[in-house]
Amino acid sequence: MKTGSGGEEAPLPRHVAIIMDGNGRWAKARNLPRSVGHERGVEALRKTVEGARDLGLSHLTVFSFSTENWRRPVSEVNALFGLLKMYVSQDLKKLKADGVRIRVLGTRAGLPEDVRLLVDQAQSETCHNDKFNLCIAFNYGGREELMRAARQLAADVVKGVADLDDFDEESFGQYLDTRGLPDPDLVIRTSGEMRISNFLIWQAAYTELVFMDVLWPDFRPKHLNEAIASYQTRQRRFGGLAVGSL
Ligand code: IPE
Ligand code: IPE
Ligand code: MG
Repeated sequence: MKTGSGGEEAPLPRHVAIIMDGNGRWAKARNLPRSVGHERGVEALRKTVEGARDLGLSHLTVFSFSTENWRRPVSEVNALFGLLKMYVSQDLKKLKADGVRIRVLGTRAGLPEDVRLLVDQAQSETCHNDKFNLCIAFNYGGREELMRAARQLAADVVKGVADLDDFDEESFGQYLDTRGLPDPDLVIRTSGEMRISNFLIWQAAYTELVFMDVLWPDFRPKHLNEAIASYQTRQRRFGGLAVGSL
């Protein structure tokens, strides 16, 4: 991975987002319950957050529970809620001390009260931090986020708070859970699956995608470095022309 030292131009992505996939297959390959795969996934998350901070990234978003994941057995859903609670309660003190700002993207609807309270606590206790932004997409789905935004916008128009004549993509972005965040430059998906699964579908319009064969519990900072190295070889054109091709 190029770090930009030595005068080389190799910008780091400002915002990396990860679809942490493959916990179940990791467990299955070892004849272990899926919940063990999810537990090991939390360890991989801790290492990844450290690795991202060490690299000097400013924004990391991780997809940890989708609005579609409610289709899983109740026991697995409950285990995932338990792990979120465990991660936030065990790591909040350290994350706070390290200057990490936590944001939880997604709808609070349907979440148990204790999860909601913990999420609110993590957000409010870290809202003044600015060294590193960790966003956890939990109970998140891109379509649900867009529907919620559209509903809120319609309500604001009725109230006279929003003016449709004066409305653009940037103002719409203010209605999304990601308001104030840069769009992801790079989305990584582990486990070899090559799909977006309803993740940041508005924000990832021009994101570079890296699909990796590693299962999430095996993901380490070296895999993050590899994905960033691949990102750094990409030419981003945003619909325009490559620099120098005119
Ligand atoms: C990712 O691992 C974690 C969540 C989606 C919550 P999976 O649980 O999807 O693992 P696989 O895809 O079944 O291997
Ligand atoms: C995407 O993984 C959601 C998360 C990683 C939280 P899934 O395992 O739920 O995705 P699909 O169902 O295989 O597309
Ligand atoms: Mg999966």
